[in-house]
Amino acid sequence: MNEYMTLSETSEYIGKSKETLRRWDNEGKLIAVREPVSNYRVYRKSDVDTLFADFLENNIEENFSNYVAPDNDYTVLELFAGAGGLAIGLEKAGLKCVVLNEIDKWACNTLRKNRPNWNVLEGDIKNFTFKKYQNKIDIVTGGFPCQAFSYAGKKLGLADARGTLFYEFARVVKEVNPPICIGENVRGLLSHEKGKTLQGMISILDEIGYNVVPVQVLKAINFNVPQKRERLILVGIRKDIELEYEYPKPYKKIYNLRDALKKGELYDCDVPKSEGSKYPKSKIDVLDLVPPKGYWRDLPINIQKEFMGGSFHLGGGKTGIARRIGWDEPCLTLTCSPAQKQTERCHPEETRPFTVREYARIQTFPDDWKFEGSVAQQYKQIGNAVPVNLGKEVGFSIIKFLNAYYGSLKLKS
Ligand SMILES: C[S@@+](CC[C@H](N)C(=O)[O-])C[C@H]1O[C@@H](n2cnc3c(N)ncnc32)[C@H](O)[C@@H]1O
Repeated sequence: MNEYMTLSETSEYIGKSKETLRRWDNEGKLIAVREPVSNYRVYRKSDVDTLFADFLENNIEENFSNYVAPDNDYTVLELFAGAGGLAIGLEKAGLKCVVLNEIDKWACNTLRKNRPNWNVLEGDIKNFTFKKYQNKIDIVTGGFPCQAFSYAGKKLGLADARGTLFYEFARVVKEVNPPICIGENVRGLLSHEKGKTLQGMISILDEIGYNVVPVQVLKAINFNVPQKRERLILVGIRKDIELEYEYPKPYKKIYNLRDALKKGELYDCDVPKSEGSKYPKSKIDVLDLVPPKGYWRDLPINIQKEFMGGSFHLGGGKTGIARRIGWDEPCLTLTCSPAQKQTERCHPEETRPFTVREYARIQTFPDDWKFEGSVAQQYKQIGNAVPVNLGKEVGFSIIKFLNAYYGSLKLKS
């Protein structure tokens, strides 16, 4: 299987000149991998497909905004709320978080500390009923952790999913009966159990009275986030509503690490100082040899072999290993633990992971959003979050839908 394409093949494939591709490589928009012997640029086909599906299909416009003002006070019930990435994004869009549920004590403390007025229900979702909110909430959202279903029959129903966290999400949607529900997840859900898990979710939402809009994976870099993170969005519309939901439209402007950490369009000051974890000495010695935007292939061959161990011979680009991020590119997806093996995202100038506040900026959290718990707990909360600016754009798309829905009800009455 030919997983890589040459510069010429890529240029032909997406209809852009080689010059543009070279520039995009330098800007970090579409990073090429260097062929080890010739040092020529080659492109991973999946990277090209992922990045350009949006540019080609959505025909990105120059200047526009997804912003829409809400016609009413719309209310949100946020499940699996974590440290509030999605919740603040929705709030920034103009939605009101009425209730949030989260099992993790430190994430709940974070939510309470920053928003003492939010009703944070701490504990396992299984132990809560939301029946008292029936017909009183406009949107139920939730980033349920992905789990496999067991398939006894052909079409999965709600009862078949018992014991999974998606079951709990769907149960709450059923109890609350909002006009719209939004689930978010990782891209991997598309291929989880060869797509059967996602199909199961769609059929369960259908059974409880919701039509699912064709699923999309949104790329955070297209929504004012200086990070190449992706989120799969699952939108359910209550079946009595005959209105179309439209995903937020991607922006052309791509922000980079400098925009995240320095004073500029995204933030009006440099990133505040904060705690952060460190690399062990052995890793520092290796990463010291990697230039900005470089990765393990930039190391001398003997160190490559030693650092990569068994993975050295496995093929594939593995461009996220021993990676030092450059100032002029978006950051690679942050993980829940910055010092974890094989997902290094090293600071461009210093040989260390990003600090807690740098992490938060790359996820577009405001500087005044405090995280509770140990440094490891804080990284985990940030790494788990939906980037705030992505949540905000999704929020606008929900507001647009709800304005149209409540507007249509007024016309009928
Ligand atoms: C992907 S994170 C959600 C991130 C959040 N939407 C944000 O933007 O910050 C999933 C969250 O689900 C929580 N969780 C896992 N199992 C749970 C359960 N049984 N009940 C409630 N929350 C749970 C985890 O603690 C984690 O914070």
